[in-house]
Amino acid sequence: MSESIPLLLNKDQLRARECAKWTVYPDDVIPAWIADMDFALAPPVREALAQRLAAQDLGYPKMYQRAALPEAFAARMAARYGWTIAPSQVEFFSDVVQTIHFCLLTLLEPGEGVLIQTPIYPPFLQSVVETGRRQVLCPLQPGPQGYAMDFDALDAACDAGTRVLLLCHPHNPTGRAFTREELEGLAALVRRHNLIVVSDEIHADLMLDARPHVPFAMLGEDIAARTITLTSPSKAFNIAGLCLAVAVFGSPALRQQFGRLPDHLRGGRSTFGMAATAAAWQAGDPWLDAVLAQLRANRATVAEFVATRWPLIRHTPPEATYLAWLDCRALALGEEPWRFFLREARVALSEGPNFGAEGEGFVRLNFATSPEILQEILARMDRALITAGKSTPAAR
Ligand SMILES: Cc1ncc(COP(=O)(O)O)c(C=O)c1O
Repeated sequence: MSESIPLLLNKDQLRARECAKWTVYPDDVIPAWIADMDFALAPPVREALAQRLAAQDLGYPKMYQRAALPEAFAARMAARYGWTIAPSQVEFFSDVVQTIHFCLLTLLEPGEGVLIQTPIYPPFLQSVVETGRRQVLCPLQPGPQGYAMDFDALDAACDAGTRVLLLCHPHNPTGRAFTREELEGLAALVRRHNLIVVSDEIHADLMLDARPHVPFAMLGEDIAARTITLTSPSKAFNIAGLCLAVAVFGSPALRQQFGRLPDHLRGGRSTFGMAATAAAWQAGDPWLDAVLAQLRANRATVAEFVATRWPLIRHTPPEATYLAWLDCRALALGEEPWRFFLREARVALSEGPNFGAEGEGFVRLNFATSPEILQEILARMDRALITAGKSTPAAR
């Protein structure tokens, strides 16, 4: 962990935050649910925001093209992933989920199918319902090494009306970072069924192992041409409140189709969002490296705790993200585990069933916090399990 970049905040500092994570539950609950991190801001981001405020510069913002954000994004993709795109392929929006809605409204007709691998980040499921499109669900297969794609099941799931693969890559909530081999398999499936791909890669900068992220659009020119890649600086740089998302259009045809919606539905980009993003991409990587080191340490803490004290909970440590997906079904609590842990441990976790039917009996634990708070979260959950007779003495 970098000594020179202070990351950790204490509970009083966090309680003073006005974000959703720290305001939804009463003060005696420790929040470990929504995907925000409990770390101090990257210094360049903080400085950029302070500058805009000092300049009292809150009029209509300049166009993002003038801020050279498409160029900055393209340069970042080339440097980090070896992914070559032209700045002209890049557009900016407010939120990734907003942009998913736009994709579904413009790329499919009502009733057409969207292939989704479950369990999944809940807005994937909601966006299909809310836009009147049809969910084509195919579960990832849980195994001893973690979740894997089932290509036969994916093939079988795709019917004639399935038009779009909505991919979460890396995957929330399982933390899978799909291998090149898996992605090649998926690319073959996409070709076989003539699908358009909407690839949400918002967690790409949060790879926890040495393996680099492989943008789905890198799998071939033909794949790029049928892919819209969505991402945002909000996850890696912890600035979701600034509302800025990125879309990369793999072909003019896709962009034209997407352009069917009136431009003003997109809303605007905020001055703060653009300033923070430019600063993060330009000078935020030392901070991001420090965050990743802390997340790796926290991932190990969770994995060791589960392995040594909770024999009834199954967990494969994530390869990316800061989310631990805990299979609590064998606890046989007689209720959803998030409800049990909220009441008995006063810890707020994400509710498994929101991630689809495969999430029943699961919780998602956000471990992007200080080691001290993480220990308290785990200790509270442990005490609740001991009291309920669900943590065996041998495991203690
Ligand atoms: C996979 C995924 N996509 C999108 C989002 C949210 O992005 P936005 O706030 O830009 O809509 C999240 C937030 O956790 C996420 O995990």
